[in-house]
Amino acid sequence: MSLKKISKEQPDSFEFSSENLLGLKKIIGNYPKGKQQSAVMALLYLAQRQNDNWIPLVAMKYIANLLEMPYIKVYEVATFYSMYNLSPVGKYFIQICTTTPCMIRGAYKLVEVCKEKISAREKQLSNDKSCSWMEVECLGACANGPVMQINDDYFEDLDKTKAIKIVNQILKGEKPKPGSYRGRINSEPENNRKTLMENKNA
Ligand code: FES
Repeated sequence: MSLKKISKEQPDSFEFSSENLLGLKKIIGNYPKGKQQSAVMALLYLAQRQNDNWIPLVAMKYIANLLEMPYIKVYEVATFYSMYNLSPVGKYFIQICTTTPCMIRGAYKLVEVCKEKISAREKQLSNDKSCSWMEVECLGACANGPVMQINDDYFEDLDKTKAIKIVNQILKGEKPKPGSYRGRINSEPENNRKTLMENKNA
């Protein structure tokens, strides 16, 4: 499976949920009248979230109609950016950062866990089709490496044991707790702050 390869199996229809319809009105309202096409990336992202992390062709057509723009333009955006998946990736989509700071903190141990528990190769669905994984470049949380992103949540300060626990929870359909797995708040030092103590909001 390549996530950028258009899936051969496509659903017949797509519509935004009532909750997303409300959200998209707000998004489109952020742009001047006549410039609603600028909302295309945000709407593709909404469609992806609603459809278990991938965008079917029918959703691109639906968005093109909604924004009154040619379908090919929506298709071009969806096929250009790596953040959009065009084949099923499962309800849980795991992205492991293997860029240098995470790599030297043990990111490949997390990759091992995914190979053992989910699928032998990246971008392949698990046996039960509930999840898949892939290596990615920096996720922007380098101070908390190694990091993995599952759908919209970050899981930080991981090691092999912690990653196994998280993946096991996902495979059981449970929702693991996001954030630091060494008890840090955001990227503060372990055992609390050590500088700028006089500044309450630092
Ligand atoms: S290097 Fe992994 S989050 Fe930046």
